[in-house]
Amino acid sequence: MRLLMLANPGANRVYAAHAMTLAAAELAVCAPGAREVAPRSLAGVTYLGFETDALEGPAPERTEALRLIGRQSTFLALFEELPDGLLRPIEVADPDLFEDDLLTIPKYQGKTNEQFTRLLLNITLAAVRRPLDEHSTVLDPLCGRGTTLTTAWTAGLNAAGVEVEEKAVEQLSAFLKTYLRRKRLKHKADLVPVRREGKSLGRKFEATVHLADRDLTMGVFTGDTRASAKLWGKRRFDAVVTDAPYGVVHGSRSDVVGTTGKRDRSPAGLLKGSIGVWAHQLKDGGALGLAWNTHGLDRADLVAMVGDAGLVVLDEGPWRDFEHRVDASIQRDVLVAVKPLTDPLG
Ligand SMILES: C[S@@+](CC[C@H](N)C(=O)[O-])C[C@H]1O[C@@H](n2cnc3c(N)ncnc32)[C@H](O)[C@@H]1O
Repeated sequence: MRLLMLANPGANRVYAAHAMTLAAAELAVCAPGAREVAPRSLAGVTYLGFETDALEGPAPERTEALRLIGRQSTFLALFEELPDGLLRPIEVADPDLFEDDLLTIPKYQGKTNEQFTRLLLNITLAAVRRPLDEHSTVLDPLCGRGTTLTTAWTAGLNAAGVEVEEKAVEQLSAFLKTYLRRKRLKHKADLVPVRREGKSLGRKFEATVHLADRDLTMGVFTGDTRASAKLWGKRRFDAVVTDAPYGVVHGSRSDVVGTTGKRDRSPAGLLKGSIGVWAHQLKDGGALGLAWNTHGLDRADLVAMVGDAGLVVLDEGPWRDFEHRVDASIQRDVLVAVKPLTDPLG
């Protein structure tokens, strides 16, 4: 079946010239059996054209395919292209568990844009090699004020985070408490001190929201990401999804809390000290999705680091098409890798 996805024109403002290339790569890795994904112009409007058999299969397969297409970060509408050149609209139910404003209300310096966060989560989940269920949890070990975490909730996944700036966790806590109350969603949410063996380990934001047919949880520790395994103990995650600090200076400070105790300009040291920890925190078959500034670290060096941590980097075809310019000091790329499934007989 030949399909045309209409992409949100807002994407052009976010990614300038790269919008369609990114949307095509996202669709190619996420939509089941998508082939020949390429931009297509019809009467002056650009669509993403692709072939798939997934909508002709049994009902559960079709529903899942439409859910994945409807979750694309740029999705606006879907059409079947008929042989006579006409377009037939295909109804796609809204797959999100929350309204957009959960993501769009918070506005702050250093926020990862909502559309890109959704893309990063989508492609990381597409790489996960284990079944996802209502217990599945996404960890963002550099979570800031929680864009990845609320995006995970929107997609029906539990969320976990670590963030070194205590203030960011306080702001996440304040926002979510107000949001859930204003939306009249049944919930529990609290920022509590963490003590273990008589020692203070900072604080943890804990929230549970009770939706019509399920609960979703969120837990965020204040602390250094290199201590994430200590903070989370035996917990393992289905996906680790994170937008690393760019090594960019805001005012007098850089956004990297680095290895030297001072603020490093480059995120390379931080990633070097963290990737092994994050890989350890993944379940077998889980996936890591990482966005970073290539001005501070080459892709080849990062691929080597991630490989040394025992993960298999997806480094071919559309997986290599996510690099894009953010501004003069940030050239952003995305790397996705999988923790191999251990053979129970091996
Ligand atoms: C690019 S920002 C992520 C923003 C986040 N996605 C959001 O939208 O709010 C990177 C985050 O990493 C945090 N960070 C930097 N060094 C860290 C460290 N050593 N441990 C934990 N977090 C750290 C920064 O404070 C910043 O919030």
